[in-house]
Amino acid sequence: MCGIVGVISDNAALKAFNGLRALEYRGYDSWGLAYPESGGIFVVKKIGQIGKAGTDFSKSAGIAMGHTRWATHGKVTEENAHPHSSMDKSIAIVHNGIVENYAELKSELVSKGYSFKSETDSEVIANLIQEKLKTEKTFEGAVRKALLELEGSYAIVAMRKGEEKLVCARDGSPLVLGVAENACFAASDATAFISETKKAIFLEDGTMAVLNKQLKVFETKTGAQLKAVPKELSWDFEQAQKGDYEHFMLKEIYEQPRLLKSAANQPKDKMEKFVSMLRFAQKIYFTGCGTSYHACISGAYMFSSIAKTQVMPVLASEFSLQENFVDENALVVAVSQSGETADLIEAINIAKGKGAKIAGIVNVMDSTVMRLSDATLLMNAGPEICVLSTKSYTMQLALMLLLASYVSGKEEEAKRLLSGLSTGAAKILESNSEKIKEIAKGLSRAKDIFVIGRKNAFPTALETALKIKEVSYIHAEGFAGAELKHGTIALIEEGTPAIVLSTSQTRKQVASNAIEMRSRGAKIIMVDSIPHPDFDFSILVPDFGEANPIALVLPMQLLAYYIALERKLDPDKPRNLAKSVTVK
Ligand code: AGP
Repeated sequence: MCGIVGVISDNAALKAFNGLRALEYRGYDSWGLAYPESGGIFVVKKIGQIGKAGTDFSKSAGIAMGHTRWATHGKVTEENAHPHSSMDKSIAIVHNGIVENYAELKSELVSKGYSFKSETDSEVIANLIQEKLKTEKTFEGAVRKALLELEGSYAIVAMRKGEEKLVCARDGSPLVLGVAENACFAASDATAFISETKKAIFLEDGTMAVLNKQLKVFETKTGAQLKAVPKELSWDFEQAQKGDYEHFMLKEIYEQPRLLKSAANQPKDKMEKFVSMLRFAQKIYFTGCGTSYHACISGAYMFSSIAKTQVMPVLASEFSLQENFVDENALVVAVSQSGETADLIEAINIAKGKGAKIAGIVNVMDSTVMRLSDATLLMNAGPEICVLSTKSYTMQLALMLLLASYVSGKEEEAKRLLSGLSTGAAKILESNSEKIKEIAKGLSRAKDIFVIGRKNAFPTALETALKIKEVSYIHAEGFAGAELKHGTIALIEEGTPAIVLSTSQTRKQVASNAIEMRSRGAKIIMVDSIPHPDFDFSILVPDFGEANPIALVLPMQLLAYYIALERKLDPDKPRNLAKSVTVK
């Protein structure tokens, strides 16, 4: 999703540029920078990656702002890239979110003589602020009045010619402030300024801030000044770096064994509150998007098997299916790495409107999902920089396993299982990596790849297929093992690769599904705790019972990664994807 950075500091232009580099992981297709120069505002905008762009920016600018754009309104062009300037060039803004009433605002401004250069909704904000300056005494007053006319979501940073200050605001899109010795920052997430400071102020929705030599926070609606107390971020700059790994994706895959060991380290009071909500809910829904939705399905299997509790996994974007059944007796568990996924936030608001309680499982402290939740558990996966979710997925599964075990009073068993899996996970990755590289070579030329699994390996089949698609652009589909013969088996041809996820619980049935496919020409890759010499390839993963969904997905993440490398793709920045999808 779009990335925003604003800086008040010496050498602000370079710091804003470096902030943009740190936000590249969010996914983008154009970028831009703005800072004061020779009495005006200098704006540079480019399409494509930041790459080796020259950093011959002004060294004297004391304020600067930058933006990475993931196109929503309007094509990928320089005109549509941010920052956007007002018609008189006295104002520049960067924006993340959607102005739902921009067409109406734009036509009003056009009728007042304003002209526009881009197709974006964001440009409307710049001209609206210029219009408000006709009646407002201060820049921040004009920004505030303009914001009150916006419908939809926004995180913005604005600057005005001749004023050494930045005005920023959020409502529905993330914006966090960084406070350093002689500098302050505003950004979509703290990755943009963590190298400068770990002191962060997480702006609430409906608030704004004026950054200059000091930082003040206000309520947008009333203009009343609010108290703003910085918090110490729980992670540091190093964790957001690749280290010795070639890609963040590989680093984050190999971080999982260590993280699984600490998954059980949850604050006792938070775990108790979460578990009691699960115990007393009459209906429980797990909801999320993409990989997080797969974790919801996996969680439903764990709760059924371990806690004998029915959980309904619901795709967040289709939560309306449950709208007539969610009520004050329901608990909705919202699962999200970023905590900013718009489809999920919409689902949460539907559920809250029906009186349901919300329990969040997120990776980002103070994210919107966390604020909307009555109880939250943090995944403690550290910053996940790769666009693909890997370590956050297995940490979601680990928390689901723990929660199901706490609900059934078997938490010590779960802790032992996770501790064993932590050691086992390192071995699974190490012992299979060479074979996986070999298999990836063959799969990298496939047109279709099918993945099947039964029972608790079924959601892992869905997740494996998503990983392959996201990172290698090869069509892949995940299925419940028995489902393939109800139609899709028609697509199996000579040489079609099929990955079969097998466990001691499902081995017999899923092996017969494998034979059905092989008899139609499929190449079979068996993933199981025992070897299968009669199939084409065999990847060995020890049996971890209820934790198999975690054990089985590890080599699959690695396989997807190596397929991408075989296809000379950048696993960290897949085309068209954003790390946090903050639009519906
Ligand atoms: C997974 O690899 C993708 N990045 C995507 O499906 C992601 O899981 C989905 O967009 C949900 O994101 P969230 O966990 O931040 O809510």
